[in-house]
Amino acid sequence: MNLESLLTKDTQVVAVVDNQFGDTGKGKVVDVFTEWADVVGRGTGGNNAGHTLVIDDKEIVLHLLNVAALYNKTCLLGNGMVINPYSLVNELEEVKKMGFDPNNLMISEDAHVIMPYHIARDQKNNQSLENGGIGSTGRGIGPCYADKIARKGIMIRDLFDKDIIVKKIKKALEHYPEQKLNIDETIDKIIVPAEKIRSYVRDTISEMHRFKREGKKILLEGAQGLLLSVEFGTYPYVTSSDPSLSGTAIGVGLSARDIDLPIGIIKYPFMTRVGGGPFPTEFGGYESEKHCAAGLEHDIFYEVKNYLGMDLDLGKVRKSQQENDFRELIKFEAEVRDYIKSHRNKIVNLMNDHNPFIQGVGIRLAAYEYGATTKRPRRNGWTDAESARYAQMINGTKIVLTKPDCLAGIDEFQICFGYKDKNDQNAGFDRDSNSLREIRPLYRRYKGYSDISKIDNYNDLPVSLKESIEDFEKYTDGKVIAVSNGPRKEEIILKNS
Ligand code: IMO
Ligand code: MG
Repeated sequence: MNLESLLTKDTQVVAVVDNQFGDTGKGKVVDVFTEWADVVGRGTGGNNAGHTLVIDDKEIVLHLLNVAALYNKTCLLGNGMVINPYSLVNELEEVKKMGFDPNNLMISEDAHVIMPYHIARDQKNNQSLENGGIGSTGRGIGPCYADKIARKGIMIRDLFDKDIIVKKIKKALEHYPEQKLNIDETIDKIIVPAEKIRSYVRDTISEMHRFKREGKKILLEGAQGLLLSVEFGTYPYVTSSDPSLSGTAIGVGLSARDIDLPIGIIKYPFMTRVGGGPFPTEFGGYESEKHCAAGLEHDIFYEVKNYLGMDLDLGKVRKSQQENDFRELIKFEAEVRDYIKSHRNKIVNLMNDHNPFIQGVGIRLAAYEYGATTKRPRRNGWTDAESARYAQMINGTKIVLTKPDCLAGIDEFQICFGYKDKNDQNAGFDRDSNSLREIRPLYRRYKGYSDISKIDNYNDLPVSLKESIEDFEKYTDGKVIAVSNGPRKEEIILKNS
């Protein structure tokens, strides 16, 4: 049985959101429903997202477009998004090569435009954790949303009226005195890619409501995660939009009430976070946070060499990274993947190491938790049912658990149920980053398990895993509807009851 069996004849709007810090595998679950859908809409964020899909054993990473682009369904980029026209044109070229008809693309005229000065400021202020930034993706997301809220943003519709764009850019640039930008050059730079997307720009809010009236099947794809929401996440260590269920609906002009089947994704029994900010259950705590903050220096290539002993010429890798020699990098990555596959025993040893930092490295390697584009290490830790309970309260979704198959061979795993504060009092999830850093997670331990990738019936899952899932459901007041046990979309086990 597949996830689609949850759809009834009355289901019209399905939403897939992330109940953690992003990167939970939304892309795969969205992929499952895309065949059913007529329209796939996205409502928040921009090219800070990276959704990895495995189609015909080929890995595809999308940043702005959604999976509809690969199925020639209507791909709608909503009013809540921030769009970098260059990135969009590049991504569009890629999916066109795969057969996508660009006439299926609908870009909201109300979405905001990421301008070159947004990117420059983001990279200067927010990217480096060491210099007091939050470790943003450096794509200009924060400054673009800041301008939107401050009412000096540039909307997609503005790009097609020379007088308006000149006036608006002049006004906006007053707020970027540190950047010596030439207005004409800035305009020329943005107008070229803008013209290439012009014919796909629409009033997507009206289009969305027309789809609803006409009974079209609508799938909403979340970006980022609830704990990264500017409204609900670990502020200020958040992204600048609201990727909650409601934020996702608003971002395409709908209301959360319109959603018939809300699905929330939880990585399990470990979870990840990218960038700065509190992460109570992090393996190796501060040591891991610092290690991962070094980003590119400690990327996948570094980790396989250093912890798995792969004989890899890092100098050569770094050189091809500096030169953006993608062909060479793809080759290196393929070698690394092969090495990882054939050294599973070593990874299992790391995963079971008594030093939590090393255990984290092992789990990162086992689950291949590296940035979809940058290959930077993601921070990781046991799944936190306390923050999941909070996410459940806000999003009220049915839950899909992802990636437990990656920990095959683990001796024991743990799930965090609640915290103690510094006075040893019971504490719950608190958005305040300082208090979240001070709490101590309380864990329940479970017996480990071996390969689950061939299992297709929930009852056949290891007893300890099922026990933990029952405890998780009780604690979070959420209902788990499926467990993913592999990267391909068929690899999903439905849970009844
Ligand atoms: P997907 O859709 C994980 C994180 C960044 C940083 C913070 C703010 O792939 O799950 P931003 O550039 O948005 O201002 O950065 O949010 N972040 C993500 N982490 N997955 C994502 O998207 C993310 N998008 C942003 O790492 O800590
Ligand atoms: Mg991602």
